[in-house]
Amino acid sequence: MCGITGFTGEVRALPILLRGLESLEYRGYDSAGVTLVSDKGLVTEKQKGRLADLEASLDLDAHSQTTGIGHTRWATHGIPSQLNSHPHTNEAETISIVHNGIIENYQTLKEELIKKGYIFHSQTDSETIVHLIDYYYQGDMMEAIGKTVKKLEGSYAICVVTTEHPDEVYVAKSQSPMIVGMADDGTYCASDIPAILEYTKDVIILEDGQMAKLTPHSVQILDFECNPLKVEFTHIPYDMTAAQKGGYDTFMLKEIYEQPEAIRETLRGRVEHGKIVLPQLDSIDMSDIQYVHLVACGTAYHACLYAQSLIQQWLDRIVTCVPASEFRYGYHHVDEKTLCIFVTQSGETADTLAALKMCKEKKGKTIAISNVLGSSISRIADETLYTCAGPEIAVASTKAFTTQLVLLTLVVLKLAEKMNKAPKDEDVILADLMRMPKIVEEMLALDGTMKKYADFLQDQHDAYFIGRQMDYISVQEGALKLKEISYVHADAYYAGELKHGSIALIEENTVVIALATQPEVAAKTISNIEETIARGANVILITTQNQEAPGFKNIIRIPDVHPVLANIPVTVLTQLFAYYGAVLKGRDVDKPRNLAKSVTVE
Ligand code: AGP
Repeated sequence: MCGITGFTGEVRALPILLRGLESLEYRGYDSAGVTLVSDKGLVTEKQKGRLADLEASLDLDAHSQTTGIGHTRWATHGIPSQLNSHPHTNEAETISIVHNGIIENYQTLKEELIKKGYIFHSQTDSETIVHLIDYYYQGDMMEAIGKTVKKLEGSYAICVVTTEHPDEVYVAKSQSPMIVGMADDGTYCASDIPAILEYTKDVIILEDGQMAKLTPHSVQILDFECNPLKVEFTHIPYDMTAAQKGGYDTFMLKEIYEQPEAIRETLRGRVEHGKIVLPQLDSIDMSDIQYVHLVACGTAYHACLYAQSLIQQWLDRIVTCVPASEFRYGYHHVDEKTLCIFVTQSGETADTLAALKMCKEKKGKTIAISNVLGSSISRIADETLYTCAGPEIAVASTKAFTTQLVLLTLVVLKLAEKMNKAPKDEDVILADLMRMPKIVEEMLALDGTMKKYADFLQDQHDAYFIGRQMDYISVQEGALKLKEISYVHADAYYAGELKHGSIALIEENTVVIALATQPEVAAKTISNIEETIARGANVILITTQNQEAPGFKNIIRIPDVHPVLANIPVTVLTQLFAYYGAVLKGRDVDKPRNLAKSVTVE
């Protein structure tokens, strides 16, 4: 969630550092800072607030230094403040560092350093790093960093500069991402690809336990013992325009509209002549598997609930679905007969990563579903299947979720095939999946209708989403989306549970979004809705083409699609509803308050 940029080269570093940080703004932050270095010393400037506040405090033309580091911070230890912002410098102001991650043993290290006479100025865990480097530095910066990181417990991506070598930048990483790239005018590093994509598409994705020394025209990769390593560059297939808004008001709306293409890409090459092609599952022998665990956070957890429902319907196996933050501390049985599936857009979510590591230690078979090539989770899982949604910039997950549903449908069908349990109408499901990009386009054409329905939220502080069976998964995601971007309180209820208490909340003009797409229970949901209408609720009903629903004013019918796939078109509608609700309330849609795109700390 914090962002790092670093540069050393032949041109001014400051504009490059700031531009890189801007491209990482979507990750969320509460303060920003830079250090520029030359043989005259360090210039460090940091500010609480937005990057614009930092820029306003800097005389942008006055700094001609060609080496520097930058950081956007999302507070973990110590409140958001100027003092707690990065970079942190040593007392002599000869070394400056920025850090992403959490140093778990920082209190012990801090006490040891204070005994040695070091003075701390911030409440952060990160400040320990600069003092440790200072303590170990005896002329060789890589050696000092190597000694420092060996003392650290936790996660870190560190970027360091020093006045002793003013044209060098040093990095080290463990459990937090860091990449390095080279171009004609200099050498770049960053915590995430968009920050350097403008300059180069060929990058080194550092592994845990690696450090790098950057000079204007070279990169040297070392292990923590300072042994040189040979590493390959990875070509990034994205271009920068994919990370720009491209004509839409927000990244979120752009990403909602990218769903037909994202689903098409996710299906590409995975269904050939009516057969599912997922070679990553070849090594899984379902006769060896007794239990299946589905683990993720937030929206990705809702994708897991969807997969759980499919497994319950098609596979004869015990399946649990648990948020990663619970799973990692729970008592869930994992052994070599357990298949653990981790779903994550970013591939960096701390809780999901920790749960994955735990399953690996217990010898479970692990599969990741991720959207980010080379992400930590994708590198650790036994097998990774990628959703091909492209970079998702808005904090609210949209295209990542619907592509997760598509890919998980294929995964569960394939596992069912392996057990000779594939549903009899598998061919219908596959044909409908292949039609899904078109179906989603039809949903996007209802943009204006969802905008009109979102106006119902005008004077409302609450909304209720109700549904049964697989619709209950969509209502949970619909409610989360509305909450996170519009700040309207939204709850998801099983439609049949309303009368057991929650119906007391329904009053004149209360907004209720009711989903009734599952043929066996749709009529029952509709009678539950009537109970809310009788109490004055403003109900929006989303149902199927043929479902009887006489007398409903606000009704949307999704195209004919196999019931297990109805979650996908329904979700596109609830995304649009949440989006326009947030716009109506004047929210910062792409960067909702208190949230970060990728939650890389616990
Ligand atoms: C989605 O809209 C959220 N912002 C959030 O719940 C997200 O899905 C969750 O943090 C998991 O992220 P991941 O998919 O990158 O692991």
